Amino acid sequence: MKIVVTGGAGFIGSNFIFYMRKNHPDDRIICIDKLTYAGNLSTLEPIMDDQEFRFVKADICDREVIHRLFEEEHPDMVVNFAAESHVDRSITDPGVFLQTNIMGTAVLLDICREFGIKRFHQVSTDEVYGDLPLDRPDLFFREDTPIHASSPYSSSKASADLLVMAYYRTYGTPVTISRCSNNYGPYHFPEKLIPLMIINALHDKPLPVYGNGLNVRDWLYVEDHCKAIDLILHRGQIGEIYNVGGHNEMRNIDIVRKICRILQKPESLITHVADRKGHDMRYAIDPTKIQTELGWYPETSFDEGILKTVQWYLDHQTWWEPIINGEYQSYYRKMYGTD
Ligand code: NAD
Ligand code: DAU
Repeated sequence: MKIVVTGGAGFIGSNFIFYMRKNHPDDRIICIDKLTYAGNLSTLEPIMDDQEFRFVKADICDREVIHRLFEEEHPDMVVNFAAESHVDRSITDPGVFLQTNIMGTAVLLDICREFGIKRFHQVSTDEVYGDLPLDRPDLFFREDTPIHASSPYSSSKASADLLVMAYYRTYGTPVTISRCSNNYGPYHFPEKLIPLMIINALHDKPLPVYGNGLNVRDWLYVEDHCKAIDLILHRGQIGEIYNVGGHNEMRNIDIVRKICRILQKPESLITHVADRKGHDMRYAIDPTKIQTELGWYPETSFDEGILKTVQWYLDHQTWWEPIINGEYQSYYRKMYGTD
């Protein structure tokens, strides 16, 4: 099997490539990544020389380049992780989100259609469903929950999902979509909640919690997400959407307190800052479909996963230090108003 993985130099894409190299060593993986601020080639260094791995620096919006690559490789499957993924950046600068997340997906779909791809898998997000109220713990996102996106990021992901399903219905393109909840684990870019809090705590810097910190996210260890995508690729039904999540809802403030406890840092580092515009209150996935149809269950509990993640950041300062010492510094200053 030849699989194109877009966005493979980012957080989940790189974890997925490592997962596939380990579990399907005979598959050839072709990683396409533009290497934006969020892409990091050093992450893929351990497999750069593998016979069955090829890295191509390219933009998924670049029709000519992607077409040429398909002529060379004739892949069987495409797994599309490539995206602008940070909600806060989408609030300050939506344009690039529309370009990559919508137009990039459209380019890939056209080329997949032309080359008769066996599977196009779109890595989507639970954010396309909008949010749930805090006082209705009985409500969950199901695959038939209407799309009700809140931010420019989630709207762009929802648009891409609509396009994917339109290509299935109109042209019969063999597609699947996964909509996963918040991931955490190794290689998570430092701008996101968990790595940001770990790295700030290690430097005894303020831990900036948006608003009252009562917003709820449904956290999943990244390897469990990779396993779900692998199952969908091999056993998922064409034209279907699968929600992925492990019933692990936590309030932001409790996550930050937990990180303080693990690192033995005082909670006085926690600083409540201005809330995110349009901040979604609660995400919660109902994973019944992927559990009953594909037998997927998460393997890593949050208690185990967060310990492994903190340890990973302690052991891999050489991965994140160049990031926080680079362009990230000006992003951080603009976003949080301090160094
Ligand atoms: P990330 O920001 O860490 O990585 C994105 C990668 O895509 C980077 O390597 C970047 O260089 C690359 N990229 C960006 N624009 C590109 C373009 N035009 N052409 C080629 N490559 C480009 O993101 P992530 O957190 O790993 O998320 C991966 C995917 O999973 C995204 O589609 C996101 O919407 C989805 N998702 C993420 C989460 C999460 O919790 N992080 C949860 C559910 C779904
Ligand atoms: O639910 C899936 C989504 O999860 C993915 O589609 C997105 O790509 C991914 O970035 C993530 O989105 P969130 O907005 O939920 O993740 P983030 O880590 O940015 O924020 C998590 C929560 O923590 C959110 O309620 C905002 C809050 N937060 C975040 C940061 C960066 C803070 O309180 N302080 C912060 O400094």
